[in-house]
Amino acid sequence: MAKEAKDGINGAVVASQSHDAYPQDGGTAVISSDAVENPGLPAHRKRVTDLDPKKAKRAERIVFSLFYLSIAGSLGAVLAYMFFPIESGELFDIRLHTLFVGLGMALGLLGIGIGAVHWGKALMHDGESIDYRHPVATNEEDRKTAAEIFALADEESGFSRRTLVRNSLIGALIAFPLPGITLLRSLAPQEYDPIDLLKHTMWDKGVRLARDPSGVPIKASEVTIGSAFHVIPENLYEAEHPLDEKAKAIVLLMRLNKDELKEPEDRKSWSYDGIVAYSKVCTHVGCPVALYEQHTHHLLCPCHQSQFDVSDQAKVVFGPAKRPLPQLPITVDDEGYLIAQSDFQEPVGPSYWERLK
Ligand code: FES
Repeated sequence: MAKEAKDGINGAVVASQSHDAYPQDGGTAVISSDAVENPGLPAHRKRVTDLDPKKAKRAERIVFSLFYLSIAGSLGAVLAYMFFPIESGELFDIRLHTLFVGLGMALGLLGIGIGAVHWGKALMHDGESIDYRHPVATNEEDRKTAAEIFALADEESGFSRRTLVRNSLIGALIAFPLPGITLLRSLAPQEYDPIDLLKHTMWDKGVRLARDPSGVPIKASEVTIGSAFHVIPENLYEAEHPLDEKAKAIVLLMRLNKDELKEPEDRKSWSYDGIVAYSKVCTHVGCPVALYEQHTHHLLCPCHQSQFDVSDQAKVVFGPAKRPLPQLPITVDDEGYLIAQSDFQEPVGPSYWERLK
């Protein structure tokens, strides 16, 4: 059976069809003109806040309380930042800082969000209105004018007439994205092993540790307790691409009291008289870990605030990094200069999925 119905918005009569309009035997479909009364929109129901001024007042109180809560949360976050500084480097302080600053900001945002939603739902105007649709197409005259403009542009540019120019332009536009697509090839497996490239640096047995950037070798006696050196291999500038090599081999050198070092048995020989050397390349995404806090023995990466405990194998104590900084095994030569015992024992830099120990 087929039906006709009035459109709920503008009252126009429209035809609609039921399944009966399509015969199962494949015969001709018939549309009848039985009309169905437009049910229209359900009657508007007023909200409790429209009917009861006390409830409206209560909703108003809730809304401004939420906004005040938001103000308190935002100010609280500022105060938490001031009263729980992370500069002490203590893990407990850092946790308090993160907790209260985060809570304050969350309250600040939620207060505004929930308050605004409640305001809109309970107090703002609740009437229904109709926005009529208009035809999307422009009128016949405008379309004709547009077609004439295109025809004129075609005539003046000679786009259809000068076929060689047109076809070569189409060819150029097709070729243009090809270099970009070709670059995707670099994501495919390579002939060389990228792991190998990252696994080896210029450090090797007997290579002296030198100051960055002068390349002056460092004696163990020059490294006082609490001091930190930025270090490169002494032979760095002999490399074909010194900057590339430096990016992998750069090291931080620090001296601690020997009894402050927590060294596992198999690593006790990797330090020299309290002097330890760690890769400066952050294991998060590779920024240079540049800040050393002497009293906490923490190294801080300025990019995303990862912190590494130098006294405990440069383990991660805070932040997004997932593994300790690789340690460079060191000792001294006959003249008292610090030298590497070998290369790093694991790849330096960010963690990646093919990384092998
Ligand atoms: S690169 Fe160091 S924390 Fe992100």
